[in-house]
Amino acid sequence: MSKISNYVAKNPDAKGFIQYTDKEHQVWHDLITTQLPMLKGSACDEYINALQLMNFPSNRIPQLSEVSEVLRDHTGWSVAAVPALIDFTSFFKLLANKQFPAATFIRSREEIEYLQEPDIFHEIFGHTPLLTDERFAAFSQAYGEAGLLADKRDHCMLARLFWFTVEFGLIQTDAGLRSYGAGIVSSPGELVYALQSDIPERKPLHPVDALRTPYRIDIFQTVYFIIDNFDKLCDLAHSDLIGMVQQARKLGMHAPTYPLKEIA
Ligand SMILES: [Fe+2]
Repeated sequence: MSKISNYVAKNPDAKGFIQYTDKEHQVWHDLITTQLPMLKGSACDEYINALQLMNFPSNRIPQLSEVSEVLRDHTGWSVAAVPALIDFTSFFKLLANKQFPAATFIRSREEIEYLQEPDIFHEIFGHTPLLTDERFAAFSQAYGEAGLLADKRDHCMLARLFWFTVEFGLIQTDAGLRSYGAGIVSSPGELVYALQSDIPERKPLHPVDALRTPYRIDIFQTVYFIIDNFDKLCDLAHSDLIGMVQQARKLGMHAPTYPLKEIA
């Protein structure tokens, strides 16, 4: 849902095939081989087990059709190629239809460590594995449906719930705190920071609280919300998300806990 992108999404051909260069496949290779060994003890078991189901190649960027095939078998979801820029309504509509929007470009080597925008590595490696989990999939779909029903002025507020769960969620497990958010599991730096740094605040997920919490996309997060298990997301899927948005709007936004950007 980025507003400004330096990248151009790659369009699938008539057969749905997306052509990548050898250099681009190499970037995928370097990202996945860096990230995989870091997941043990950092990502939750649900994500690691789901990653095994996905069985991503390490030597090339997988095609969306391959990814969709696995998702369809488990939860009926698929991945849809979208431009680098996508508006809220299109985003909500796709999720409501069990389609995960994926920007198809891959980051340049110069930005291999850190990228503000979601690229194909983030979308596929970060997002798609947990869409094999019924509870996670149900929440993602319900979120899309709520987005379609929401007043346009509440879109940004709803985006915060997605941000603090699907993108940057943490989960408390018997073995300790783990990550499940796509923005964390697909980022070598934030995977360590989110769990180990003394800087960010970590607190139990209360949806209205999350809806009221501002964030920045260009820094490591200053607040993370923790769930106890994925049933929490399933419960959220069946709760009154629009009512929560209305409540959050009434209560107003929390003050930012990060430095404000300087405006030139
Ligand atoms: Fe994302």
